[in-house]
Amino acid sequence: MKKLNIGVIGCGFMGRTHSNAFGKAANFFDVPYEPVLKAICARTGDRARLFAGKWGYERPESDWRKLVESPDIDLVDIASPNDTHAEIAIAAAQAGKMVMCEKPLGRNPAESESMVKAVEAAGVANMVWYNYRRVPAVMLAKQLIDEGRLGKIFHYRTVFLQDWTISSELPQGGEGLWRLDASVAGSGVTGDLLAHNIDTALWLNGEIDEVTAMTETFIKSRKHTLTGKQEPVRIDDASAFLARFRNGSLATFEATRYARGHKALYTLEINGENASVMWDLHDLHRLQYFDHRDESRLRGWRSIHVTDGDHPYMKNWWVPGLQIGYEHTFIHQVADFLKSLDGGGPASPTFAEALRTDYVTDAVLRSAADRAWVKVQSGR
Ligand SMILES: NC(=O)c1ccc[n+]([C@@H]2O[C@H](COP(=O)([O-])OP(=O)(O)OC[C@H]3O[C@@H](n4cnc5c(N)ncnc54)[C@H](O)[C@@H]3O)[C@@H](O)[C@H]2O)c1
Repeated sequence: MKKLNIGVIGCGFMGRTHSNAFGKAANFFDVPYEPVLKAICARTGDRARLFAGKWGYERPESDWRKLVESPDIDLVDIASPNDTHAEIAIAAAQAGKMVMCEKPLGRNPAESESMVKAVEAAGVANMVWYNYRRVPAVMLAKQLIDEGRLGKIFHYRTVFLQDWTISSELPQGGEGLWRLDASVAGSGVTGDLLAHNIDTALWLNGEIDEVTAMTETFIKSRKHTLTGKQEPVRIDDASAFLARFRNGSLATFEATRYARGHKALYTLEINGENASVMWDLHDLHRLQYFDHRDESRLRGWRSIHVTDGDHPYMKNWWVPGLQIGYEHTFIHQVADFLKSLDGGGPASPTFAEALRTDYVTDAVLRSAADRAWVKVQSGR
């Protein structure tokens, strides 16, 4: 198998999921390349060394520019906070490297557009880690929709609810908490959580034409970890919007980090003229399916345990009945990316596809600010 030398930037939550995925993809999937964990970059040498030892990287780096410029790196993987994405991705593309980048692509559409331009000008393979597309149950929903089983779609309903920022004592800024600092994150739950719901929705149900939104910042100032000072909070703590899809269906989207009792409740429901599907991240290996064409005496919601060999990705795992989890979605994403390098066409979502999500989040934030319906800028 050909080797593909990987350089990962960021040793946090996503640095771990990606390292795990690069390490496992070739064990479980027939892929044309074997990822080699070549270099890992953190902000400090100590952190990178520790991570390199634990995950089996050949060398630690503390300067991402050095990693990007290294001739032995084929693919640069960006698993660092949002304010680093554009600069690193553009430098990596200009150095001729393949680029995988965490979501959201940039902090705003201008940054994201410059990233799309850079990878397209360089002609390098690229992909964004919208990993929920690769939950087998969500991929099954995609298959059912594409087969026309749901018929005409009327409704798309989706939420992403968490409860970890309710305390006013929680600071903003720094590892993990950079999400509360708008200068680093770009936005709050709209770009962090709803970006996932939007990416999945665009993929399952097509383009969104217009939105009307409301957002709120419940706690107006928090101590900043890096400055030690109480500073204004400029992220949206909660965001809800209505949307019209191009196919005529209506949608509701909601995300918050103030829903006491919910840790990561990502759900989606799609209602079509013949059938409906429901999915819930807390029970991610199941797809709920209701088909009105079933015999009426037996009609009801089916809870499909998505673990059989003919379910998406599942023949590569254990035996029917044994489920997989969150980390596997990243392994699937790496496997699909590696396969795409052998001429199968680009792996989705590319930077250009992910830009469409940023156009929607941008329209949501503008709509909330202006208290008006806003047309979503068209992607390509
Ligand atoms: N796909 C998903 O489901 C998902 C989930 C969580 C986070 N994310 C995205 O992944 C990215 C990282 O989030 P996270 O939760 O892993 O954050 P994190 O705070 O856990 O980790 C970020 C890491 O990046 C490092 N870092 C920051 N600046 C750096 C620099 N200049 N050079 C090298 N390393 C640097 C930090 O030291 C830290 O190790 C974000 O863009 C986030 O939106 C995606």
